[in-house]
Amino acid sequence: MQTKFITKVFPEGQGRLASQLMSSVDCVILPLCQTSHVGKQTLPSAIAHLDQLLDGAISLAIKNKEFAGKICETLLIHQNSTWKSKGIQAQRILMVGLGEHAQLSEKTSENKLLTEYAKAARAALRVIITNQSQSVLWLLDQEIGTKKENIYSQCIRQTISLAEEACYRFGARFTQFKTKPVENPVNLKSITFATTTKLEKSLKEIVRIGVAVAQGIGLTKDLGNLPPNICNPTYLAKTAQRVGKEQALKVQVLERKDMEQLGMGAFLSVTQGSESPPKFIIMHHQGGTTKEAPIVIVGKGITFDTGGISLKPGEGMDEMKYDMCGAASVLGVMQAVAQMGLKKNVIGVIPTCENMPSGKATRPGDIVVTMSGQTVEILNTDAEGRLILCDALTYVERFKPKAVIDIATLTGACIIALGHVHSGLFSKNDQLIDDLLEAGKISLDTVWHMPLDDAYQEQLKSNFADMANIGGRPAGSVTAACYLSRFTHAYPWAHLDIAGTAWKSGAAKGATGRPVSLLTEYLLKAK
Ligand code: BES
Ligand code: MN
Ligand code: ZN
Repeated sequence: MQTKFITKVFPEGQGRLASQLMSSVDCVILPLCQTSHVGKQTLPSAIAHLDQLLDGAISLAIKNKEFAGKICETLLIHQNSTWKSKGIQAQRILMVGLGEHAQLSEKTSENKLLTEYAKAARAALRVIITNQSQSVLWLLDQEIGTKKENIYSQCIRQTISLAEEACYRFGARFTQFKTKPVENPVNLKSITFATTTKLEKSLKEIVRIGVAVAQGIGLTKDLGNLPPNICNPTYLAKTAQRVGKEQALKVQVLERKDMEQLGMGAFLSVTQGSESPPKFIIMHHQGGTTKEAPIVIVGKGITFDTGGISLKPGEGMDEMKYDMCGAASVLGVMQAVAQMGLKKNVIGVIPTCENMPSGKATRPGDIVVTMSGQTVEILNTDAEGRLILCDALTYVERFKPKAVIDIATLTGACIIALGHVHSGLFSKNDQLIDDLLEAGKISLDTVWHMPLDDAYQEQLKSNFADMANIGGRPAGSVTAACYLSRFTHAYPWAHLDIAGTAWKSGAAKGATGRPVSLLTEYLLKAK
């Protein structure tokens, strides 16, 4: 990450400090609510000081109706000779509208408020990136900070993630893939959050967590976007080992022979047609006591999904490089929790291989024995995610987990059901469901609770084995989850289908980094 996130004290009513701060940045961002201040033509007290310093430039813009504080509205005020004569170096002030809902009331839900804030922050970032500001002072506690601590903290964390998103250029991180330098590079060197003294300590901690999460998201996006000839199972294993070294995580990588010994017949059937060796990655973050049961996250790591013998159609098949986004999110989350020093035990598990057709590949009709001992008739080799995950879900029983969450780009059917807005959440554990729904709303990385009734299990019947690996077209994402549920009886479990949310197609093709925000938020709050 290039951008530095800094915190500075900005005591109310001290104009001198304000000017000092302003001398070190080239843009000041000033988010304002439509209803509370702009509409009433009164400014929050610290902003009023700033206004005085600027000879009333802010209040004049409001009075002249150049700025109403509508959601995403932006107005740039440029430096003039009077500011300059007072020693204020900032080239510009960017007023940003937070709209009506930004004012926290009992009626406004936290999710609504944060969603609106994120929209406004995106608008502000677009402007400062266009005008190539390098150092920015972000003033927000006057409108939001003093009201609800949780909201305040989330707004700052959102700002950090959104700034990273706005600055993300794959080509700037990996220069080997395009022979010409990246178009419109960004050079946002720092964002300084200003706060009152009493909030300073918590603000530092919030920024530290926000940066860890944003960097985790960055890692997840990079891994997703890398081409499948580079980002293969071996690359993921090496990345896990590198992250482990950097962040003091214990990392273990199992090879094919280890998986054979463990009896992972379902996983091994998927890798059979590939020349690239499979890996089974385990990452331990020991932030709690040794006695404490861990939370385990398991990510699908198919580094390329051709469908195997049940070959996929050619159009858009390149996007199946993203079929390891579950694995990438596990790596991102593990990096983030280690970096922030989360005081809990978390284990990340990644089964990873390619799904390729070949003379050695698994055929439709083959029957395999899973690590659990249950047998599976493989009716479609393109339903491979559940085959690698089921053995991983059996493997993690040994950790006696408090909870297990798997994350997978599992079904096209989930995209049909939920589009690209929510990830699918499947679970029978009420606590996990509530916690993940809540974490989604707060992190703006939302999930939708899908059914998992036993009635759907019928569709997995096989005439020749304990179960089939597909359940037909109806409710395809539900039967996939039903299949996984048969391997999770030893612990509380939830499954996230991120097929619609892990990446974007079309002109803006690229990984989103979801659901790293959701999972880190869940882990931070987990009891
Ligand atoms: N990785 C795919 C799911 C997928 C497809 C995610 C498109 C995102 C976009 C998965 O391995 C798969 O192929 N699933 C099949 C299952 C079917 C054969 C039962 C699917 O969804 O078509
Ligand atoms: Mn597939
Ligand atoms: Zn797949």
